[in-house]
Amino acid sequence: MQKKRTTPTTPPRERAFLVGVELRGHEQLLPFEDSLKELSLLCATAGLEVVGELTQKMGRPNAVTFIGSGKVEELKALADDALAQVIVFDNELSPRHQRELEEHIGENIRILDRTAIILDIFAQHAQTNEGQLQVKLAQYEYFLPRLTGQWTHLARQAGGGGGRSGSTGGVGLRGPGETQLEVDRRAVRHEIAHLKDELEKVRTHRSLHRVQRKRSRIPTVVLVGYTNAGKSTLLNKLAKADIYVADQLFATLDPTTRRVELSGGYQALFTDTVGFIQKLPTTLVAAFRATLEEISEADLLLHVVDISHPNAMNQAEAVHETLVEIDAENVPVITVLNKIDRLSDPEAARNAVEHFPQAVAISARTGEGIDDLLGMLRSTLYETFTPILIRLPYQQGQLISLFHEFGQVERLVHGRKGVLMQGRIPGRFVAQFKPWQVKPGEKEKEEDDVPMAE
Ligand code: GTP
Repeated sequence: MQKKRTTPTTPPRERAFLVGVELRGHEQLLPFEDSLKELSLLCATAGLEVVGELTQKMGRPNAVTFIGSGKVEELKALADDALAQVIVFDNELSPRHQRELEEHIGENIRILDRTAIILDIFAQHAQTNEGQLQVKLAQYEYFLPRLTGQWTHLARQAGGGGGRSGSTGGVGLRGPGETQLEVDRRAVRHEIAHLKDELEKVRTHRSLHRVQRKRSRIPTVVLVGYTNAGKSTLLNKLAKADIYVADQLFATLDPTTRRVELSGGYQALFTDTVGFIQKLPTTLVAAFRATLEEISEADLLLHVVDISHPNAMNQAEAVHETLVEIDAENVPVITVLNKIDRLSDPEAARNAVEHFPQAVAISARTGEGIDDLLGMLRSTLYETFTPILIRLPYQQGQLISLFHEFGQVERLVHGRKGVLMQGRIPGRFVAQFKPWQVKPGEKEKEEDDVPMAE
């Protein structure tokens, strides 16, 4: 089934001027220039036309205006010359920085940062009710401390309730003044509380679905990866489905689940997720927690990396960092090095494979390597038995019987706190048992443990 998309409303392209500040001694995942290039791509995706850029190197940001006061003057002149309507900082600006810069640069040019752009893209791409609620919540939380005359249109939407969140294209409206601002703030707080309630309802519904899927015992595989790595293309190839694919950032925002045949009668459920990016705004990670839970509860992750991208390894690292942030680092991972058809040196892909514990090089476009990937999936999920040592509390009766039914139990010891079980289980169950794993060096025995009767 074709995924339904609403065409993003395209306001006349606003002219954006970019600012990148390289902070000395401040480690960044992407090289400074590449981060700025990525911002330019983000702006294009958000519907802005990039008309110039300014960079500055400094030890630490100016407390008032982020960039130095001389640079503010230079920026004002350059942005005016370029007829810019917005200035976008690659660095995260505090509400104070944003306010001060707006005051210094003048009324006609709005000041935004990378986070605001990402939020805007997400707002344009969210399809499902849950996705829209999540983005809206993130937007309101981001804008609340920044609510000045410039942002009050959001508050007015909040008062009305239910309307689509504003995009950067519509941010230009002026608010009616300070007293009104307080009323607006209250309205936004009220809307935040309302959105959280709504999300809670959707989440309860969603977790019921997840429980049903778990019961079906078909393993769940979640595709993760840096934005534009090729996750949707790969899922299309695997599931012969027709999911929206676009050469733009964050084309997929809402999880899409498909059943995939792994041959030999084996199956798995595959879910596509939102693309990751370096400096993913924390407000978004928080708002998308429910969607991201799909990732931490998966039986296996397919980490799709665009190996033809010059920053492939840094992008892979950014994804790994986000996985740690959402407590998903325990889920087994197969790394999929995608787009090998774009490499001039096929040897490069083979070398890259060596970098990861379990990896395969493919082209989702031409289909090369897809059979190897399916084979690896089948073997990881169904054929390989992974050694495991766990202590399961007695309340986890379901998992205890799961181990007996599908695993090979080599040792079983009853203790006060639960059952210590050692043995091997098929890869598709590893993630479920991981929370109960006895870590190396952790006390294995309890005083009153009773060994398994032969
Ligand atoms: P987000 O929705 O941003 O997370 O992107 P995604 O990871 O789902 O990427 P998507 O599948 O939308 O692909 C992004 C772009 O890469 C599209 O233009 C695809 O046609 C292209 N692409 C994907 N896989 C391949 C591949 O194996 N080779 C080549 N040459 N292009 C590919």
